Amino acid sequence: MAAPAVPASLTRPKVDLYSDTVTRPTAGMRKAIAEAEVGNEQAHEDPTVNRLQDMVAELLGKEAAVFLPSGTMCNEIAYRVWCDHGDEIILDETGHALHFEAGGPAALAGTMTRTVRGVRGIFTGSDVDAAIRPKNRHAPRQKLISIENTANLGGGAIWPLETVKDVAAAARRHGLKLHMDGARLLNGVVASGISANAFAADCDSVWIDLSKGLGCPVGGVLAGSADFIEEAWRFKHQFGGAMRQAGIVAAAGVYALEHHVEQLADDHTRARRFAEGIAAVKGVRVAANEIDTNMVYFQVDDTGIDAPAFSKRLMAKHGVRIGALGGRLRAVTHLDVDDADIETAIAAVRAVAAG
Ligand SMILES: Cc1ncc(COP(=O)(O)O)c(C=O)c1O
Repeated sequence: MAAPAVPASLTRPKVDLYSDTVTRPTAGMRKAIAEAEVGNEQAHEDPTVNRLQDMVAELLGKEAAVFLPSGTMCNEIAYRVWCDHGDEIILDETGHALHFEAGGPAALAGTMTRTVRGVRGIFTGSDVDAAIRPKNRHAPRQKLISIENTANLGGGAIWPLETVKDVAAAARRHGLKLHMDGARLLNGVVASGISANAFAADCDSVWIDLSKGLGCPVGGVLAGSADFIEEAWRFKHQFGGAMRQAGIVAAAGVYALEHHVEQLADDHTRARRFAEGIAAVKGVRVAANEIDTNMVYFQVDDTGIDAPAFSKRLMAKHGVRIGALGGRLRAVTHLDVDDADIETAIAAVRAVAAG
């Protein structure tokens, strides 16, 4: 029987700049997974999970950490620990948790969200001051500030350390906790030279994703005080995220922290090269001087083709996958993209823009 035709959307791209989540484990990582020592993580008997948690707690300068199946669960569990139903979280209007976590803050933590308008996803202590409500029985209780470093919809922008400190000071002024979504914190660390410890120092909770630039198949690690992590474990069970021999996947995280951090700098160089290459294409608008890390957002309206159609043509005609997001296109560099792929992608953008 003939194999069913594979829809174009399911054929593998030649160059995949859709996201840094598309990476497949390297040979070294697969070996580490195969050889992992495992046990029951729920009883803290999985040596590989324990090791990963210790490594991340140390990296972020916190007392403890917990391995979770996803970055989304890291955010949602932190929100659940810090907030009660009816409480409010202050975050940027571009925040991942606001747009891409299926309403999790409301559904799982029962929270309201109050947005502030930052610049490229980055806001200040005075933005927080302006968002503070009067403390009376009519207003929702404000409990938490959530910041995203690097800021995804902000174009992979890195928070200046003094701005983190400024927001942390505002949090203390108003009796709020500070949470950092560090899905791509290590991109910010490698690009800025500021340590993860320094970025995390003023945060009450902070996490890193393993399944993005670090190239793991699964997982995130959430860190904070020992008391915070104890509570986080309770919700890990409640949310269905408690696992058993999770060392099989945690081994990838240990391997990635040992082998895949420094190469993030190559991803950043390639993102800059891509931005410079497409900046020269007629009809393409990109802020090539604002590429902090591994993301390049660009606009193509002036080519006469809208973003979704442009994205479709890139894939259908050139096998280059770049997603359309809110009227823009977003290209993300990662472990499975090399210099030649970037040149292929630039040529594809040029060809599609030429019509
Ligand atoms: C900034 C940010 N936070 C959180 C997440 C969620 O992470 P995960 O996909 O591991 O659930 C993402 C994923 O793209 C993200 O970009």
